[in-house]
Amino acid sequence: MKYGNSGLQGVQLTGVGKAVPEFCLTNDQFAQVIDTSDEWIYTRTGIKERRVLALDETVLDLALRASQQALAQAGLVPEDLEMVILATSTPEDLFGTASLLATRLGATRAFAFDLTAACTGFVFALATAAQFIRTGSCGRALVVAADGLTRFMDWRDRSTCVLFGDGAGAVVLEQSPVDQILGMELRSDGRNAGMLNIAASGPEVEIREDLTIRQNAYQPISMNGREVYRFAVTAVPDVIEKALHRADIDPHTVRHYFLHQANQRILDAVAERLGVPRECFPSTLAHYANTSAASIPITMEEWITQGLLQPSELMVLAGFGAGLTWGAVVCRWGRVA
Ligand code: ACO
Repeated sequence: MKYGNSGLQGVQLTGVGKAVPEFCLTNDQFAQVIDTSDEWIYTRTGIKERRVLALDETVLDLALRASQQALAQAGLVPEDLEMVILATSTPEDLFGTASLLATRLGATRAFAFDLTAACTGFVFALATAAQFIRTGSCGRALVVAADGLTRFMDWRDRSTCVLFGDGAGAVVLEQSPVDQILGMELRSDGRNAGMLNIAASGPEVEIREDLTIRQNAYQPISMNGREVYRFAVTAVPDVIEKALHRADIDPHTVRHYFLHQANQRILDAVAERLGVPRECFPSTLAHYANTSAASIPITMEEWITQGLLQPSELMVLAGFGAGLTWGAVVCRWGRVA
């Protein structure tokens, strides 16, 4: 990490990667163990199946694979990186998993830290890394988003456990002669934190007669689905419009809106509110469900790999989730020619 400002630099997005567990759990398989159906889940969410971490698999394993793919696409080696941010709400270690990720990757010159902002984590981490590059403190950064929320479910609660899957995505950012990040708007509001959370709590443990402590552990995810829906369909269009306004870009000129993949109905409602065709909102919900922070880079990777997003094309990345947190970034994909 260099300190000292060498003047404002541009930022470019030069590589993307994704990794998901092999094990696939379909709605029909779910219906064999809890009182639900493929019809209920698919019509309300757009989800058909999700990937679930195996017993011997970790979020770190997924993060590593996604990172290696992103670096290969950028044509970089791990030693080129100066910074690694891991956006996750489900770290392997509460003290942080990013430095272990950087070490496993071989990013020996990078400093690394975790960033927690639930399903908005990727957008906040991208925005954070971009600022380090802009100030000249850092030339090349890796932003990884990885979550294993299936490990934080109450598998008897059919209203939440059918919605989530596990996965990881990663993006490489580099200094650039032309700035490819054109506008952003980041928000948070703790007043409705209880709408969606994984609370820490636990039993009282008496250490001595005059000292009783609380021994915390994490509770399963708790969510008020209807309230989250209402929040998402008003807050997300608002930040997208503000970020586009900062970039001086008309919403109709953007062909790719990569939104956090929580629910197909939310994607459709945001498209309608912005007056943009639904086809401009890529969806990977059917195959991966809600992978929290990872859902945006996973979807980007699929579109880029299929040739549906070309270098220098405009895109909007928008996340929303617990905290509450939400935000949007307007940028162009790919290395500047
Ligand atoms: N299968 C069958 N029935 C179910 C299931 C299920 N998996 N889950 C709930 N139900 C039942 C309920 O018990 C209820 O039955 P009742 O009327 O007899 O009491 C009925 O279905 C309706 O339940 P609601 O929770 O009111 O269902 P709703 O129509 O609101 O749909 C959903 C729930 C899909 C979660 C919806 O609220 C939603 O889309 N919310 C958006 C939030 C979201 O997508 N969250 C994902 C994570 S958050 C994030 O990433 C930011």
